[in-house]
Amino acid sequence: MGFVTASAPGKCILFGEHAVVYGHPAVAVAIDQRISVKIQPSPNHLWLLDGSSLNMNRNPHIKGLIQKLWPKQHGAPELSIHIEGNIPRASGLGSSAALSVATAAALRMARGRWVSKTDGTQQQYWLEGFGSTIANSEPYDNSSGFFAAESQDERYHITGKNSVDSDECAILAHGVEAAVQQGRASPMDSSTCSHGGIIIISDVIEQGIDYLYQRTLAMKDATRIWHIHEMSPPSDSDDVYLVIGNTGVHAPTGKQVAKVAEMLQQDPSRMKEIDTIGQIARRGIKALKEGDFAAVGRTMTENQLMLSSIGVSSPELDNLIKAASPSSLGAKLTGAGGGGCMVALTRNPKETSDAIELAGGRTLISRLGSSGLSVDGSQNTTIWTKT
Ligand code: PMV
Repeated sequence: MGFVTASAPGKCILFGEHAVVYGHPAVAVAIDQRISVKIQPSPNHLWLLDGSSLNMNRNPHIKGLIQKLWPKQHGAPELSIHIEGNIPRASGLGSSAALSVATAAALRMARGRWVSKTDGTQQQYWLEGFGSTIANSEPYDNSSGFFAAESQDERYHITGKNSVDSDECAILAHGVEAAVQQGRASPMDSSTCSHGGIIIISDVIEQGIDYLYQRTLAMKDATRIWHIHEMSPPSDSDDVYLVIGNTGVHAPTGKQVAKVAEMLQQDPSRMKEIDTIGQIARRGIKALKEGDFAAVGRTMTENQLMLSSIGVSSPELDNLIKAASPSSLGAKLTGAGGGGCMVALTRNPKETSDAIELAGGRTLISRLGSSGLSVDGSQNTTIWTKT
C-alpha cells in the first residue's frame, strides 16, 4: 500500500511583532521542532485521523487542504492521516501552519502534478496548482487548482519530490489559515514553515535581502499586501542556539493586537514606539546578515524593552526573560505576548534552558533557521491523480 510522509518546522519571531501590523518588517526563523504528516489510502473507505474517524469541522486546516488538493467530486479516495510532532499547540510557534504545510506537501506528492511537455526550447509549465506567480488560481476561495485540459500527448505527469513546491504549500497554508482565522492571517507563519531558514515580511520591498514573493489578501476593511524575503542563517551560527520558554499562559493573538490598536487610538503619539520597533527590526536584520550575534542578542533585548513599553509583555514573560538573561546574548517575548513564549539567543543552551525551567517555564532548544518542508518517506507515491 502506498504512503507519503512530509514534515514542516515551527517558527518563532526574532524581531518586529506588533509593528509588522503597521507596515514595519518582522523577522521569523524556522525552529528544529517539526510536525510530520503521513497519508495513506484508508483501509475502510472512511476518512481517518490517527486511527479514528476524522471530524472535518474540528480539523478545519486539513478540511480546507482536502478541498483544494484532494477533491471528492473528482474521485479522490478517502485517506488515513497520521500526525506526529513536537511543536506545542496554540503557543505562537506556528503549529497550525506547520501542519498545513506538511499536509499540503503530502497531498501534492500523493497526487503528482500535470505539467506541459517541453520541446527543448519552451519552459515546462504547470497545468495544475497554486502559486504566487499564477494569476488564474485562487487559493483563498473555494475553487480547486486550475487544470488546463491539454490533450494526452501534450501533458506529462511528474511524481515524487519534483511535484512538491514550497511556494504552493506556503500559499495553500496561508489560504486555510486565513479562512480559519476569519481572514486575519499574515503569511509569516506559512512562509517560514514552508521555506525554512529566516523569513522577513514587510509592507515594502526591503533593500539588500533576497525577495521571494508578494502575498495579497482581501480582508474585511482593506486589501493587505505583504512582501516576503528570505535570508540564509549566517554561516558561523553553529554554536548559537535559541531557547524558547513557554509560560503556559494562553493569550489569544487577536486580543493582544486589539490592545495595541486601542492604545494607539487613545494616544496616536505612541506610534513613535511602533516606529522604534520597526527601526530595531531593521537593525536586527543587519546584525543577522553580518553574523554579529552579540548585536543580534542586544537588539532582541532592545526590542523587548519596546514591547514591554507598548504593554504586550506580562509578569510571567518578564520572569522567564530575567531568568534567561545572565546566560544569554539577549531575550524577548516572541509572538503576540501577554503570555505564550519568550525566546533567548544563547551560546549556553543548557544553562539558559535550566534557568528558564527553574523559573517555571517549559523549554525547547533549537538552532537558528532550521530547514523548511521536506518529504521524508514514500512508497508507491501516486495514491490518486486528477485525470
Ligand atoms: O503569536 P503569533 O506567532 O501568531 O504572532 C503574532 C504576531 C503579531 O505581530 C502580534 C500579529 C501579526 O498578525 O503579525
